[in-house]
Amino acid sequence: MARERLITGEAQLEDEGAPSLRPDSLTEYIGQLEVVRPLHIALEAARQRAEPLEHVLLHGPPGLGKTTLAHIIRRHMDVNIVAASGPALKRAGDLMGLLTNLKQGDVFFIDEIHRLDPAIEEYLYPAMEDFVVDFVVDRGASARMLNFKLRRFTLVGATTMAGLLTAPLRDRFGLVYRLNYYSPEDLRAVVLRSARLLEIGIGEDAASEIARRARGTPRVANRLLRRVRDYAQVEADGEITHAVVDAALRLEGIDEAGLDALDRALLRTIIDVYQGGPVGIEALAATLNETQSTLVEVVEPYLLQIGFLARTPGGRKATLAAYQHLHVPPGTAPGQPSLGL
Ligand SMILES: Nc1ncnc2c1ncn2[C@@H]1O[C@H](COP(=O)(O)OP(=O)(O)O)[C@@H](O)[C@H]1O
Ligand SMILES: [Mg+2]
Repeated sequence: MARERLITGEAQLEDEGAPSLRPDSLTEYIGQLEVVRPLHIALEAARQRAEPLEHVLLHGPPGLGKTTLAHIIRRHMDVNIVAASGPALKRAGDLMGLLTNLKQGDVFFIDEIHRLDPAIEEYLYPAMEDFVVDFVVDRGASARMLNFKLRRFTLVGATTMAGLLTAPLRDRFGLVYRLNYYSPEDLRAVVLRSARLLEIGIGEDAASEIARRARGTPRVANRLLRRVRDYAQVEADGEITHAVVDAALRLEGIDEAGLDALDRALLRTIIDVYQGGPVGIEALAATLNETQSTLVEVVEPYLLQIGFLARTPGGRKATLAAYQHLHVPPGTAPGQPSLGL
């Protein structure tokens, strides 16, 4: 897959383009009320007591608004944010530098916190719990342990894979919020809001259609909106109608359920090569020439969510709904090449 996936929830370059579609307050943040309500209370309580917020763990699939929430938190508390990412934080010295520079109440944001090196993670425990870091200077006989006192900061961790977090790290977060896929109604609100900000004219039913195909993910909804806008401009006098959405997304290989070629390839592989499953993730990754983590973190969650894929002790299975969606009669003879795709 040389081409970037249009519907992946993972951030891509153009997502960062101006104007920012990122809501910057909880009032503007659409949906996720199970997170927004308790977070609002925690923020207000901390602010009224003039105390830093407790450490916050945000988990859920890519593109649902974790980074956005980290920035909303820093705005609400009126503090600075220092952003790092788990895989990039490789040296203890780098972490020390970041931690010792934090001001009282600052947000220290660590994206993909499940990818932190275990050796680095060890330093975070006392930093989170007691706001100190122990640092060994010199080597051999002259080695000494220095104990640095930090200012009280708020660690905001984001992860797509909360299950991969170690227990000691997880336990040090006072506030843990799980983001879920958005309903089509909420996503429609996201599309209409973005269209307003980007000054794109769009009808209610066209917005609903984009929302339906955006796999529960605001980042995907915004990306589809941009593709549809391009198509409308070049092929349809700029007007975004339901038919234009349909044609634009068909051109991108995105079907009515919001699945793209890789989603369909995964399901077809299970059905055609493994007789519907169960099949292990290693075998699927090898057959599809994709990494396991791409399949597990990016492709599978939504297929599981909409009930096209089932995880069983023996491996992944395609469900009846998947067969129906792909127009394959269940019990298709093994090895028989299927049409479509
Ligand atoms: N609740 C929301 N309301 C409106 N737009 C949102 C919301 N959550 C996310 N978005 C949009 O989706 C994009 C991706 O969100 P982001 O916070 O980067 O996701 P994550 O960090 O979980 O991968 C943001 O730039 C923003 O435009
Ligand atoms: Mg993010």
